[in-house]
Amino acid sequence: MTSITSYDSEFFLIGGGKRLKGRVRISGSKNATLPIMMASLLTEERCLLSNVPNLLDVKTARELLEFMGADAKVEDGRVLIETRNLRGFVAPDHIVRKMRASILVAGPLLARFGKAVVGMPGGCSIGARLIDQHLKVFERGGANISIKNGYIHMEVEKVKPVEYTFDVITVTGTENALMFLSRCPKRSILRNVALEPEVMDLVEVLKKMGVEIEVEGRTMIIKGGEELRGFEHKVIPDRIEAGTLAVAGFITGGDVVLEGVCLEHIGGQLEKLKEAGAVVEILGLDRIRVRGDGRIEPLEVETREYPGFPTDMQAQFMVMCCVAHGVSQITENIFENRFQHVNELQRMGAVIKLKGKTATIYGQEKLSGAEVFSTDLRASASLVLAGLIAEGETIVRDIYHLDRGYERLEEKLNNLGAWIERVAHARNTG
Ligand code: EPZ
Repeated sequence: MTSITSYDSEFFLIGGGKRLKGRVRISGSKNATLPIMMASLLTEERCLLSNVPNLLDVKTARELLEFMGADAKVEDGRVLIETRNLRGFVAPDHIVRKMRASILVAGPLLARFGKAVVGMPGGCSIGARLIDQHLKVFERGGANISIKNGYIHMEVEKVKPVEYTFDVITVTGTENALMFLSRCPKRSILRNVALEPEVMDLVEVLKKMGVEIEVEGRTMIIKGGEELRGFEHKVIPDRIEAGTLAVAGFITGGDVVLEGVCLEHIGGQLEKLKEAGAVVEILGLDRIRVRGDGRIEPLEVETREYPGFPTDMQAQFMVMCCVAHGVSQITENIFENRFQHVNELQRMGAVIKLKGKTATIYGQEKLSGAEVFSTDLRASASLVLAGLIAEGETIVRDIYHLDRGYERLEEKLNNLGAWIERVAHARNTG
């Protein structure tokens, strides 16, 4: 029995060894929802989002919009936003610290009001999380930027057309640039842009609002409109939640059907899953079946920008490698410090060696239950997966990380036969 020391934050108690069976519906994408919510700042008209996941980050985004005076209602998967009465252009520190994607208000605020003040989005446990590329595009478009008392002050008279090539491929950097340029009537060109499905979902919304956007490879040509329309939009499915649940079905030797997926967005992950020995059946345009027989083959994985293997699935695939029949290698090319979960997995018996950007994982017969600590959103998901296959009980602490990006994960897994209890208050046992 893993002893439970006293803590006051919620944690999961997980009993390992259950094979997952059944069907589960995938929620809407967190990383598509957040930029699209901020795009509502570009118009006075009503904006309606559906298929929105019920997540901490979505609540924080709503809190931020309301802080600035917008009217934002979130209820059962729909978000209705009106920014007609916006009175402020400040994203305060206490909100930015909760969610660094708050920086996504900068582009739309500058485009519509010519002013934005955003708390410096500190790094986080997975890396420095720089925003130099965001600021370079704003400056190229004529903005004056200064940093005072931990806040970034940005102002622009009139956004000028921009021709810019990103030094690095950045998801929110591309999203901020698109929104920044979306009310500039002259053509701008962005090169070396990110093409993640979440970026393309924002592109769809901006087009609905009246922005002309052409995409050719990693080049985008944007022609904005001075007055932009409101929009109604159904958010794309969350490809990372889908991948996480597919891994859960496979590594438990289960048989799960994922409903409401977007096949195109998860193709790369499914190829890797099949390489590891999963049986993947396409049941329809938005349904797949994933089965495992208990044997997991070792893998070579390199995280890359989309359409490459997603960094947000790296920790989850590492769990699979921990119990594979052989030695696996995972190289993290996107973030400089996204191996926080390694220490915790080692507490469960994993044998992992880190050298620079590469983790070498020596597959073991099994993992054993332990008390482990979440450090970031996807690391916490990997610890839940490890708990599902570990022998005995696992305690996953600080699951507020998980609640930022997964909607009712324990409920979805329990409906598939897992045994996970969300414990609100610590119990002191021997
Ligand atoms: C987005 O973060 C996602 N978040 C992340 O998901 C995801 O891991 C990441 O893209 C990569 O796919 C949201 O969409 C809200 P980046 P973002 O800018 O935009 C460097 C999750 O788990 N960089 O694409 O912050 C940066 O340091 C989260 O849901 C610069 O150098 O990531 C990083 O090493 C975690 N300068 C790399 O680029 C910049 O100006 C990729 O960062 C911007 C980024």
